Amino acid sequence: MTLIPFTPDRADDVARLEAECFGANAWSRTAVLASAAREDFVLFLAVDDDGRTLGYINGFFVCSELDICNLAVGTEDRRRGVGSFLLRGLLSWAKEQEIGRVTLDVRTSNAAAKSLYEKAGFVPCGTRRSFYAHPTEDAALYEITLPAGK
Ligand SMILES: CC(C)(COP(=O)(O)OP(=O)(O)OC[C@H]1O[C@@H](n2cnc3c(N)ncnc32)[C@H](O)[C@@H]1OP(=O)(O)O)[C@@H](O)C(=O)NCCC(=O)NCCS
Repeated sequence: MTLIPFTPDRADDVARLEAECFGANAWSRTAVLASAAREDFVLFLAVDDDGRTLGYINGFFVCSELDICNLAVGTEDRRRGVGSFLLRGLLSWAKEQEIGRVTLDVRTSNAAAKSLYEKAGFVPCGTRRSFYAHPTEDAALYEITLPAGK
């Protein structure tokens, strides 16, 4: 498994995984490409040895902070460490960029993702009422402070 930066030829893969993982809230191919063109957006993919896209992680950053937006792994490739691999890769990139704090929000019912984030060292830092739509649900907020230095 390899971590690679997004390139436009992978937009269909990301849009397919968006639809598979986020249903009514999925980003379209156009939205993926528009976000990827922004200078404050980062998007990494995990690909297997045949070049197949297994999952992706993305986020927006400003100054020394990064907010993770989406982490997704195809249903057939879950529970094999792909999500953790993507998260480790993004945190490693963030450290290189001298980003000191990473935040994220996740549906309160999403036990799988919360467990993954907590194992990576994220700590709960609040909730946001009715933050999500389709269906309406609270968000659990998490943060991690990255140590300074290489
Ligand atoms: C959440 C998600 C990214 C996890 O990806 P993954 O590749 O299966 O995760 P990993 O194999 O790296 O699992 C790491 C840890 O996460 C937790 N975890 C992952 N899937 C889980 C599940 N179905 N139930 C409970 N815990 C789970 C476990 O603690 C796991 O560690 P373990 O395997 O040692 O028990 C994946 O399920 C997914 O894409 N879900 C839909 C999209 C989503 O909810 N994204 C997150 C919100 S933005």
